[in-house]
Amino acid sequence: MPAHQPLTGHDRPGDPCTIVIFGASGDLTKRKLLPALYNLKRLKLLPENFAVLGVAVTEGNDEIYREKITADINEFATEPVEKAEWDEFVKRAYYISGDFNDAGTFQRLAAKITDVQKTHQLPGNVLFYLAITPTLFAKVVEQLGAIGLTAETEDAWRRVIIEKPFGRDLASARELNLEISKSLRERQIYRIDHYLGKETVQNIMVFRFGNSVFEPIWNRRYIEYVQITVAEELGVELRGGYYDHSGVLRDMVQNHILSVLSLVAMEPPTSISGDSVRNEKVKVLEAIRPMEPEEVIENTVRGQYAAGVIDAKNVPAYRSEPDVNPKSNTETFVAMKLEVDNWRWAEVPFYIRSGKRLAARTTEVVIGFRRAPLMLFGKQVDSNVLPNRLVLHIQPEEGITLDIHAKRPGPKIEISNIPLNFNYREFGESTAATGYETLLYDCMIGETTLFHRYDSVDASWQIVNPILDVWQALPARDFPNYAAGTWGPESSDELIAKDGHRWHHYPLAIPPCAEK
Ligand code: BG6
Repeated sequence: MPAHQPLTGHDRPGDPCTIVIFGASGDLTKRKLLPALYNLKRLKLLPENFAVLGVAVTEGNDEIYREKITADINEFATEPVEKAEWDEFVKRAYYISGDFNDAGTFQRLAAKITDVQKTHQLPGNVLFYLAITPTLFAKVVEQLGAIGLTAETEDAWRRVIIEKPFGRDLASARELNLEISKSLRERQIYRIDHYLGKETVQNIMVFRFGNSVFEPIWNRRYIEYVQITVAEELGVELRGGYYDHSGVLRDMVQNHILSVLSLVAMEPPTSISGDSVRNEKVKVLEAIRPMEPEEVIENTVRGQYAAGVIDAKNVPAYRSEPDVNPKSNTETFVAMKLEVDNWRWAEVPFYIRSGKRLAARTTEVVIGFRRAPLMLFGKQVDSNVLPNRLVLHIQPEEGITLDIHAKRPGPKIEISNIPLNFNYREFGESTAATGYETLLYDCMIGETTLFHRYDSVDASWQIVNPILDVWQALPARDFPNYAAGTWGPESSDELIAKDGHRWHHYPLAIPPCAEK
């Protein structure tokens, strides 16, 4: 599936609409949202008639904003910018500045939307993107509701994309949901998770349900364990202020990792669009038993990085990063064992780990199959025969590896493990993308599959919250406990070794033709 191609296979452009971006001068807008909208335009998936209206605190006007985003796109576009295409885009860009706590900003916004709609003869559809700090989500939605901007009519939709994190624990997520539900119906709320915009994450569904050979063995009879690793080489960069109040459990596990896990573990949906997939995802999350306090101690490991070396460069400890408390107890690494209590997965451990400043940047899902029931080739040969594994490589390389065994040519029986590799780079055309294209497009056609419905957010917090509680009650005493550039604390290896397993890291070979 080439990048940008919507999962559901639609190829009509999105509905004509006005796209209002709150947080228009922020990082997310310049690095991801504008490049993604521009990519959609090139692909003719953006409606011909559209307008982009930026809202931010920074002083400015349409002219200044157009100049700014022209400079930004030249820096952040995923491909060289075509001037004619961009000129068409930029003349549809508008801006207002204002404080999000001030009702006056929303009055001016409403008037500006009406003006822009008149200028371009746009219908009443409006997509609001909240690329702002989470503490303002409820406020902005309340103000939009108060001035009537969230009200839909028969021929005008109003949709709101909300960035993560959705709450900082179960109680605050519930409260936020309650607040925004006063102005929006669930079908108008698009809770975004950029992992679901990743090509290979979407491919998990195609791989599982588009092939008949895997589903029959996708269960506890054949699968011994599942591992999900989301490892980053980067540290907290300039986000120390946010991260120090978050930690990896909230930042990565509650959303991205549980989302990937639910796609790997869910039952087949009856259709690929609308609520079918979301119904199945939430069922899996609900089947993950929240841990009792003693299970948290037994089945989870946390870590924080000390100084170390990455790519031959010295990097500082987490506690020395900008805007991080020098005595911080925030975790930058987590490993845990989860159990999915349903018929398909009972007693199959799901090991997950994620962290910053690890030895490599990689996101991969390893499905470990059970050994063949009878080993036939003699003790010495058999000991080389590892159980089969299937690896879904999500990044940086995208692809799939199936480890099988084959006889080496020759008179003796010698068995080798052979990786059958499929690398996306070798597969058809694929265009550079930000990962936000599919998600923005889906919102413009009203396709909700790839967005979190509230029940799955709630279910994820129910899994994470007991861990947060125990960790808060028992602050870590050994932080920092891993050096930057390693695979995390030793206790992470011990956690999985208790069950007779070890963590796998399978870099996918880059096809020779694609090597730079
Ligand atoms: C974000 C987290 O959601 O995902 C970041 O807030 C993290 O801390 C990022 O670095 C990872 O995304 P990706 O696409 O680079 O794997």
